[in-house]
Amino acid sequence: MPVIVVIGAQWGDEGKGKIVDMLAQKAKIVVRFSGGDNAGHTVVNPYGKFGLRLVPCGIFNSETICIIGNGVVINPAVLIEEIEMLGKHGVSTSNLCISDRAHLIMPYHTLLDGLEDEARGAKAIGTTRKGIGPAFADKVARYGIRAGDLLDREVFLERLRLVLDYKNTILTKVYEVEPLSLDEIYQQYCQYGERLAPHIKDTTIMLEEALSKNEVVLLEGAQGTLLDLDFGTYPYTTSSSPLAGASSLGTGIGPTELNHVLGLFKAYCSRVGGGPMPTELNDETGDLIREQGHEYGTVTGRPRRCGWFDAVAAHHSTRVNGFTGAAITRLDILDTFPTLKICVGYELDGHSIDYFPASVTALDRCQPVYEELPGWQTPISHIREYEKLPSQARQYVERLEELIACPVNLVCVGPERECIIHKVPIL
Ligand code: IMP
Repeated sequence: MPVIVVIGAQWGDEGKGKIVDMLAQKAKIVVRFSGGDNAGHTVVNPYGKFGLRLVPCGIFNSETICIIGNGVVINPAVLIEEIEMLGKHGVSTSNLCISDRAHLIMPYHTLLDGLEDEARGAKAIGTTRKGIGPAFADKVARYGIRAGDLLDREVFLERLRLVLDYKNTILTKVYEVEPLSLDEIYQQYCQYGERLAPHIKDTTIMLEEALSKNEVVLLEGAQGTLLDLDFGTYPYTTSSSPLAGASSLGTGIGPTELNHVLGLFKAYCSRVGGGPMPTELNDETGDLIREQGHEYGTVTGRPRRCGWFDAVAAHHSTRVNGFTGAAITRLDILDTFPTLKICVGYELDGHSIDYFPASVTALDRCQPVYEELPGWQTPISHIREYEKLPSQARQYVERLEELIACPVNLVCVGPERECIIHKVPIL
């Protein structure tokens, strides 16, 4: 089973960092394939606690090659900061590779991200303001600048001049702000280029070699399925695809090579930013989940919106990703609740529905229909074997398994590597 894709199955923050960190111990290569530094992947391991934003979570294994794939948009300043931070903690980044085809986040992207979201007023998406949307928009509009462009200063200058001219017109004429300086950006990005040059290469070649030797390759997703441009709550989404299908495009590995697609589900739901969330709880229960789960954004520190597990959304996620297995994360956060609710359907304008509507206005009107299960009301973080979980916890996991319609491989009961229970081992 050499190629394993790890996917966020809800609105992101499902605990991908921990699972990738664990699986990476057996992997030859780990590749991030989408998003940018809007992601914050938390890893707790013998090196310490880290919130990685661009570097793949396999970096803690000295033998593992970590690739930032072509599907990622890279803010070089953030990446260099992350490389230095890892170095200070004794973590080597000599095995870090950057696809020469990955697009760069430029200063006008971060500036425009803020200006554009502010201009949306009450309909703001609540982006992370990291420039992600504008950078992906430029990629598609063919105004992007790629990591490989930094390797040739003349090519870079010519490209930057063309693009900046256009961006400055928008900044000054539409948003009436000061233009950005070509020289400053050029000098700054040449320095970044010098620092990152040893890492920038054609990463598809090393992937092909690993696959030809049947080595384990992990494809690390970012964000979550419900933030996907097509299958998420558009327009309240991110700007790249967090789906399993995108892992092929964002790495340069053909879809026929993907063997196992692992969907990560929190045992409840959380969301940060705007847009509908049918099971959101604006009450004491929601506050309790937030406090027990320390549900505050890794990147922006914003409080996350919390609610019960939404099995309608979860099944939609399985459908559009083709999960072959699932991980249920943060089960321990529900330790204290006497009963637990699972949303098994929606009421929409007087009708019962069992699908996730495409329209956000329809989704906004959906009322969750709940099923109630008993809680276990005892700590479970010390448990390491599935059979030793309280019967109510197993009943909850097995009901989720039925509803999301794929087998559960892993159950997480705490933040550390050893808190991952292997119900049905993957590797
Ligand atoms: P953007 O990706 O910064 O454009 O933000 C678009 C939406 O996606 C906002 O609602 C963000 O809060 C959300 N978002 C982006 N990245 C993440 C993530 O890693 N976890 C959870 N939400 C995210």
